[in-house]
Amino acid sequence: MNTQSRVLSGMRPTGRLHLGHYHGVLKNWISLQHKFDCFFFVADWHALTTHYEDSQIIAKSVWDMVIDWLAAGVNPGAAQLFIQSHVPEHAELHLLLSMVTPLGWLERVPSYKDQQKRLRERDLATYGFLGYPLLQSADILIYRAGMVPVGEDQVAHVELTREIARRFNHIFGREPGFEEAAIAAIKKMGKKNAKLYRELRTRYQEQGDHEAIEVARALLQDQQNLAINDRERLLGYLEGSGRLILSEPEALLTPASKMPGLDGQKMSKSYDNTISLREDPQVVEQKLRTMPTDPARVRRNDPGNPEVCPVWQLHQVYSGDDVKDWVRDGCTSAGIGCLDCKQPIIDSVLDELRPLQERARVYEQDRARVRTIISEGSEAARDVARETLEEVRTVMGLVYD
Ligand code: TRP
Ligand code: SF4
Repeated sequence: MNTQSRVLSGMRPTGRLHLGHYHGVLKNWISLQHKFDCFFFVADWHALTTHYEDSQIIAKSVWDMVIDWLAAGVNPGAAQLFIQSHVPEHAELHLLLSMVTPLGWLERVPSYKDQQKRLRERDLATYGFLGYPLLQSADILIYRAGMVPVGEDQVAHVELTREIARRFNHIFGREPGFEEAAIAAIKKMGKKNAKLYRELRTRYQEQGDHEAIEVARALLQDQQNLAINDRERLLGYLEGSGRLILSEPEALLTPASKMPGLDGQKMSKSYDNTISLREDPQVVEQKLRTMPTDPARVRRNDPGNPEVCPVWQLHQVYSGDDVKDWVRDGCTSAGIGCLDCKQPIIDSVLDELRPLQERARVYEQDRARVRTIISEGSEAARDVARETLEEVRTVMGLVYD
């Protein structure tokens, strides 16, 4: 299994999701699930780091969110869906990584001080909160995921994860007899590939040829008969380090969601400007009909300016050029009223939500099925997580036979 093509992402359980989540994150997950080996999970322990005082709401938020994922089209046949705390291996890896994580690295993560300031009403001077990004590193590293789709605000956490992986490999990848083991592993690839590997390694190490190292990595990924630990040795041997036990992930930056809320600011629960995925269609219609428009357009006869109107921003998401031309002409000439202008958006949002809400109803009425999806996903995730943890324990010397 080439774990470089494994995708992992998590979401804190925030309860019911809205159109901002759908356009910003879920549509991206849905397209990734068909291309890669995807693991998507509910980060319930992460919720606890900030919401330990009202932890009773977490359970409801978890199920609401999972139902919304499924309703949106995240497909348990294509991706593993699970809950973080159902895979306790994350916690063990977090603990083991904590032994080699310098405090300063955690204190320097920008979200640490930012969040403490933003959530001033909560006491975040806890051990768990400081460890938040390290727990996230464990989430990622335990699957040896190559790609982590996240928003801008999470990139620093993926960067920390890379540093932790490097440090771990540096400390624990230096097994006795590494060089001999690597040389023996090269032979296992067969004459032709062994020769190619040696050439590529020389080109990289002597001439700094980055293309050579990429080709060599691809070559290693293709070697079906190499055991995981031999592959790790050869990856490390390429770079002149020890074994690469934990692999460094890349952040797959999710294109910033342009989803505007009902007031023109970014759609967000904290601005109270959302349309939730399971919003009643009548409420959807009413929210859109009453949303603010160009404040200068007081009367029907006043011409307006779409550039200052939140409705225009929704047309950018939902309307084609023909409708947009109609809006621009009609608005600036007072040829159309604001309710006329909103109608195509109302129709588009309702059309978008209809199939989603139908699926949500099926899952709402079949909680057993939702639980089965999650427990199967958690089992599949555990199989992968256990394998990594076994190796981590081994290289750390925690095997007592
Ligand atoms: N911290 C992430 C957020 O707030 C959620 C998260 C937890 C996560 N573990 C993760 C995201 C691992 C990606 C990978 O959005
Ligand atoms: Fe906004 Fe449309 Fe009204 Fe113009 S016509 S002010 S774009 S809602």
